Amino acid sequence: MNRVIYEGNSYICLYNNWIKTQSIIKTTMRKQIILAAMGSAILFAACTSKKATTRSTEATTGEVKKNYTEADLADGKAIWQGHCNKCHKLFEPTDFNVNKWNKVLPTMTKKAHLTDDEAGKVTAYLVSNAKQG
Ligand code: HEC
Repeated sequence: MNRVIYEGNSYICLYNNWIKTQSIIKTTMRKQIILAAMGSAILFAACTSKKATTRSTEATTGEVKKNYTEADLADGKAIWQGHCNKCHKLFEPTDFNVNKWNKVLPTMTKKAHLTDDEAGKVTAYLVSNAKQG
C-alpha cells in the first residue's frame, strides 16, 4: 500500500529530490565559490605581506636611524672603505640617492662577500648619508 502511494507520488518525489539536489549543488557550489574567494584572499594576503617584508629589508633613512647606532654606522663606513673599492673606485654615499643605493647594494654587498650583518651596516651608512632626492 505504502509503496503504491509512493509510486503514485514518485514524480512529485523525484521532482522534489531534483529540486533538493539542485539546491544542494548550488549550496556546494556556493561553498566552493566562498572557499575559492577565501583562498584567493589568503593568497592575496600572503602576497601583500611578502611585499611588505621585502620592502622592509630595504633601508630607508628612518629605519636606519631606528635600527642602527652611531657605532654601527662607523663600522659600516670602515667596511665600505675596505671592501667597496676592489673592482671600481669607491663611490661616495652622496654620489647616489637612497633609491639607487637600495637598488645597487644587494648585488654589490654580495660581490664584496659581506655577511648579512656587514651588508646591513654598509647599507645603513650609505643610505643615511645618501644624496637627497
Ligand atoms: C667583485 C667586484 C665588485 C665589488 C667588490 C663591488 N662592486 Fe660595485 N660594481 C661592480 C661592477 C662590475 C659594477 C657595474 C656593473 C653592475 O652594476 O653590476 C658595479 C657597480 C656599482 C655601482 C653602480 C655605479 C653606477 O654608476 O651606476 C655602485 C654604486 C657600486 N658598484 C657600489 C659598490 C659598493 C658600495 C660596494 C661594496 C659593498 C661594491 N660596489 C663592491 C663590481 C663590484
